Amino acid sequence: MKVTQHRWWQSAVVYEIYPRSFADANGDGIGDLAGIRSRLDYLAWLGVDAIWIAPFYPSPMADFGYDVADYTDVHPMFGTLADFDALLAAAHGREIRVLVDYVPNHTSVEHPWFVESRASRDSAKRDWYTWRDPAPDGGPPNNWVSMFAGPAWQWDEATRQYYLHMFLPEQPDLNWRNPEVRAAMFDVARFWLDRGVDGFRIDVAPMVMKDPELRDNPPNPSAAEVGRLGAWGRQLHLHDHAHPDMHELYRSFRQLLDSYPGERVSIGELHHPDFDVWAAYYGERQDEIHVPFNFHLTYSPWTAAAVRRAVEGVEGALPEGAWASWVLGNHDQPRFASRAGRAQAAVGMLLLMTLRGTPTVYYGDEIGMVDVPVDAEHARDPWERREPGNGRDPERSPMQWDASPQAGFTTADAVPWLPLAPDAASVNVAAQAEDPDSLLSLTRRLVELRRSHPALAVGDFVTFGETPDGSYAFRRVAAASAVTVALNLTGAPVTIPGVESGRVLIGTHRSREGEAVGGALALGPNEAVVVEDESAG
Ligand code: GLC
Repeated sequence: MKVTQHRWWQSAVVYEIYPRSFADANGDGIGDLAGIRSRLDYLAWLGVDAIWIAPFYPSPMADFGYDVADYTDVHPMFGTLADFDALLAAAHGREIRVLVDYVPNHTSVEHPWFVESRASRDSAKRDWYTWRDPAPDGGPPNNWVSMFAGPAWQWDEATRQYYLHMFLPEQPDLNWRNPEVRAAMFDVARFWLDRGVDGFRIDVAPMVMKDPELRDNPPNPSAAEVGRLGAWGRQLHLHDHAHPDMHELYRSFRQLLDSYPGERVSIGELHHPDFDVWAAYYGERQDEIHVPFNFHLTYSPWTAAAVRRAVEGVEGALPEGAWASWVLGNHDQPRFASRAGRAQAAVGMLLLMTLRGTPTVYYGDEIGMVDVPVDAEHARDPWERREPGNGRDPERSPMQWDASPQAGFTTADAVPWLPLAPDAASVNVAAQAEDPDSLLSLTRRLVELRRSHPALAVGDFVTFGETPDGSYAFRRVAAASAVTVALNLTGAPVTIPGVESGRVLIGTHRSREGEAVGGALALGPNEAVVVEDESAG
């Protein structure tokens, strides 16, 4: 039974697919749309409600598709528009919604808009990007830095001006203050909405509009920025990030989505350490981004105290009536099972599936995939090549489907674009699907339980109070049912006092399920449980 009184995306579980790495149907070693289609039965079996597919558009692949050369087509490496339509129809046939990546901040240098813009200072599209004369000393116009290291300005010798790029020089930033850019990019959204997509994940949502005067950023006194630091972390991003003018833009974008039938949804990528800045993207009337991604669990060390701070900080900052989102990892972050340790993978999954808010599972996390190191010589990620140590290749390794030589990712004689994990023969979907005690089986049962249990799907979040070091607990409460979620984030046993009497509904260790508990709840090492109140009807 699905919980129906809420919007579909509130009770949904989203699954992120990095298309290069998921499933390769044509044997070139790179995943594709037909590959995704061939694995839809798996996703339906797992029970996910929606997939978000990272970019598959034509692109020179300087940033593996986040440098888009044509927003309204499919890169031949991934297939064709007809393949996309077939995938969409097949997903919808299994009641799986499809979200695509919307990359508004920048295009590729090869996008015809930029080619025209760069052609001359008088080009009709010159102002579609941010071009500026050099500073008086001949250097870049201001002190902004690229997220991927180095200045955020690239000198163009032909027209003797700099252009702005917050990421690679191959990713020039669009100028959203130009109404023609906004109109063209809204048309891009219409193109996919008209094709039937259920919504968008918005790439770097808060960067799209910058200070119109392009003022210098001040230094960051604490250098406590999020993510992988470098020069980026040494500035306070007052003028190139989270500009107040973004809000009007997202209100219009929301109106565009809401003008379509079928509850189309926007999920914004919102990396900001400040809870209030993040929460502002819901909009004062909750009329902006439906679900701004919240990455606080990915920034936190995996300790009970930090997890509690993240969860309760997000819950506290969430505007009244707004709907949270949760994520443990994605294609830009080290794998959860590497960060927290394999023994904690199930604890993390149980937390993700029991928090209030839409969870997004990064492909492979449901089988506990870990980072696969790639040596400097074979690094593919441009960030790694510009700033060694920051590379994202390890978390993008091919999906581990089965114990065949290429783990079922590609054909036997193909060379996967990134190396397969050495443990793929034992850690894979086929093996774990047959093992009732596997992480995959637990994930599947958690997804099912979340769907059918009102307290877990849409119930309120209620704090539990202090718990012993290394443990964390919270409550989820709906009209006719309530649960306690209790987690041990350490490898030592712990006992949590004051737990409502009830029975273990699900746990990382199946042997506990059905057990009557109450009062002092003993948790073994790396164990987490959901206890349903006795009084629950
Ligand atoms: C987002 C994407 C990341 C990409 C960057 C630039 O952060 O998730 O993969 O490199 O934007 O588009």
